[in-house]
Amino acid sequence: MERSIYLDQLYFDGFLKFKIDPKNSDLKNINEIIKSIEDGNIKEGFSMETKYDRSADLRPSTIEYDASFSKVCESIGVIDILNEYLKYKTKPRTVQLRAAYEGSSYLSWHRDTHKYKNDATTVGNVPPVFKAIYYPHISNNKPRATLRVSSGSHLRYFNSKIVDLTVPRLMFNKKVDIQESNDTILIFNTGLLHSVLSVKGTPIYRLITSFK
Ligand SMILES: [Fe+2]
Repeated sequence: MERSIYLDQLYFDGFLKFKIDPKNSDLKNINEIIKSIEDGNIKEGFSMETKYDRSADLRPSTIEYDASFSKVCESIGVIDILNEYLKYKTKPRTVQLRAAYEGSSYLSWHRDTHKYKNDATTVGNVPPVFKAIYYPHISNNKPRATLRVSSGSHLRYFNSKIVDLTVPRLMFNKKVDIQESNDTILIFNTGLLHSVLSVKGTPIYRLITSFK
């Protein structure tokens, strides 16, 4: 896709399903690592630690597990497109591999950055940070939807929490599902309304990189 179309989408929709090369060596390496973790083979000194209900994070550190985890956003072009969009040189700030298990608790519509009337403080980063999330498709099943986003919702905001979180549920509101995929990565503005979908079957892994 043309660069200018990508930049427009990132502005008006607040997210991108960014095309990546599944033959990229960091991506192939990451897929292999995740498959072996799923098979119970994890490097000594590391573990998948449960933090929230039915999800687990690679600990003590994802970047120390393998260099590909921190290199991949550079090598598949995510850094380049973000630099072009933001007009400054961005860098990964945090990198986390997370697994979500069957029946994992549904995190309903929210913006990572928000402050509604009556809220004493702002939640999240100002301005909202960008995240890239890679949901590798490592199972033999059909790719599953794992996140739902409300297109363009980062450009409107209702002071009332009830109104703000009801609008994305309305029929006419454009929503897009993000699926497990080896040839796209989600790039999104975390001010966007998004909703985590529950998992059916084998765990869905996600590599989450946030940028500064
Ligand atoms: Fe979120």
